[in-house]
Amino acid sequence: LRIAILASGRGSNAAALLAARERGELPAEFVLVASDKADAGALQLAQLAGIPTLVLDPRDYPDRRDYDLALFERIAEHKPDLLVLAGFMRIIDGDALKPWAGRMINIHPSLLPKYRGLHTHRRAIKAGDAEHGASVHFVTAELDGGPVIAQTVLRIEANEDENSLSARLLPLEHQLLPAVVALIAADRLALSEEGVVFDREPI
Ligand code: GRF
Repeated sequence: LRIAILASGRGSNAAALLAARERGELPAEFVLVASDKADAGALQLAQLAGIPTLVLDPRDYPDRRDYDLALFERIAEHKPDLLVLAGFMRIIDGDALKPWAGRMINIHPSLLPKYRGLHTHRRAIKAGDAEHGASVHFVTAELDGGPVIAQTVLRIEANEDENSLSARLLPLEHQLLPAVVALIAADRLALSEEGVVFDREPI
């Protein structure tokens, strides 16, 4: 499986993917790490690992649609089978997404369908939820709204704040995302008309 990672920030989920491959747990090839931010942590990791990188700055494009079309066209040149959004902090244009239907996943730090969008940890605490977590889902034009593949769950403790909660969740994210990618790489999971299908019979 040829994988491209898209990441905007710290890059710890991208690091978890690369580490899983190093440990031999991910039968996949990382063909590209792409970002909208020149200082994204994931780019440095990619360079150290000898993985090609791509940075496109949205400010160089007239609007979101133009940017997204250009970005995904450039990504396509690397012929990935799967795109993994690992902290890619942009809403993607629906037309740019279309060619990647069923081939793009995202990790989101909430128990979807709860708390799409930003500040998920804060919102879960404020709502008085007993549990919080992260979800990996297929990407559709609806923000954080595509079919959920798998989730990791943790209990919200008394006196928890958003920093402690996100810090406790992050290592669970780092297990969840490579585990899902490994299932896709093993062809044990796909998106069909009916939704997410596990252990698909070979055609
Ligand atoms: C993670 O919490 C992920 O769930 C969300 O953005 C954050 C990215 O963190 N989509 P990192 O850049 O992978 O460290």
